[in-house]
Amino acid sequence: MTKTYAIIGDPIDHSFSPALHNTAFLFLGLDCTYIAYRIPKGELEYGIEALKKIDISGFNVTIPHKIDMMKFLDESDTECKLAGATNTIVNENGRLKGYNTDVDGFLDPIKKRKIDSKDSDVLLIGAGGAARAIIAGFSKEKVHKITIANRTRERAEELIRFAQEIGLKSDYLDLQSAGEVVNRYKFIVNATSVGLKGIGCPISTRNITKNSIVYDIVYVPVETPLIEQSKIQGATIIYGWEMLLAQAMKSFEIWTGKPAPYEAMKLTLLGRF
Ligand code: ATR
Repeated sequence: MTKTYAIIGDPIDHSFSPALHNTAFLFLGLDCTYIAYRIPKGELEYGIEALKKIDISGFNVTIPHKIDMMKFLDESDTECKLAGATNTIVNENGRLKGYNTDVDGFLDPIKKRKIDSKDSDVLLIGAGGAARAIIAGFSKEKVHKITIANRTRERAEELIRFAQEIGLKSDYLDLQSAGEVVNRYKFIVNATSVGLKGIGCPISTRNITKNSIVYDIVYVPVETPLIEQSKIQGATIIYGWEMLLAQAMKSFEIWTGKPAPYEAMKLTLLGRF
């Protein structure tokens, strides 16, 4: 019988996940299909019941449900517990097990480049949904300190507390000061939505150097203004699509137990930008 997988969230119509996973299923000749299922905020419980009724094999979870979904899990992995959020669910006869592939998906492109993050200083720009998995990832890697720069200080303070709770040194900078002292950080990660559709740069890039590693979570366009300008400064670049692809591959591997077809999935993803 065909196995069905899904992504749940709202909005969901522009998600790349159905194309990525269906490519991988086809490529490996698996009798599986992956759908997008919009569940608005406040309707998560009903949505999950509906998914159980169609005997869903597994699903991904995106905005706005990554944190709320934790309440509905029967079991969760270490990364879920660390991040306080889940993005990948396995359904075994109505028992839901949660995973968080955003955490290792974020780290994957860093490790692929053989970059050591232990004891480094990190400048994390942004305090929205993506930031928690990034902080959880860096805590696994035992970085020295994570400085959070955000337009709204209160949101950053909340994440600073979260980082400290999971054992990381953490402090705050406003966006302007962050641009001035950016050269003190090995990693500069953009987790804001600034740069989306090619508009805007979250901080000044004047002081970015060739020793900087600039990781932009924004993946549309591939070359954001932050990436373009950081390249000119000679920085090492990590693209947002690499994290998107890595987290999808890890979900796929949890569900199927098979290595995800990297090249096929990458072609599908980059072909859609
Ligand atoms: P989520 O990631 O949970 O969807 P979001 O509301 O999309 O959250 O915001 C993501 C991040 O982008 C936040 O850090 C947000 O800053 P605020 O906390 O101050 O809202 C940041 N952001 C969005 N637009 C921005 C802008 N024009 N300038 C600076 N930061 C911005």
